[in-house]
Amino acid sequence: MRPERCGSYTRGMPSTFYSIGPAARFTESKIRRFFIEGREIGVVLYKERFYAFSNRCTHNDFQMHFGYIEDDFLWCPIHYGQYDLATGHAVSGPITDLKSYEVRVVDDDVQIGLPDDEEALELAKTQD
Ligand code: FES
Repeated sequence: MRPERCGSYTRGMPSTFYSIGPAARFTESKIRRFFIEGREIGVVLYKERFYAFSNRCTHNDFQMHFGYIEDDFLWCPIHYGQYDLATGHAVSGPITDLKSYEVRVVDDDVQIGLPDDEEALELAKTQD
């Protein structure tokens, strides 16, 4: 049985979760940047849910924490790349899908899940 997919990560694959601090420190729709295990990750609270994604636009590597959220989309302001916030899928503009990450909140602590085997994850994506 194939693992359930959501965005560019795969649910069910082992992940390691990293704390990024209390949920109360997040402001609605304001993207914050974190560095975790060599990855630059954007995190945003939007409509009472957290989303995490690569903080680098797939077009020209622009830092997405300078972007904005509107109508459930994540926008890169440089060339108006439009990503689906929930999945990271490219919607319009000169972009490709943006990597997204699992987020969970445990006792008000926001945690980002990084896949333990990113190579297997990339291989699974190519077998669609
Ligand atoms: S740099 Fe993001 S759309 Fe061009």
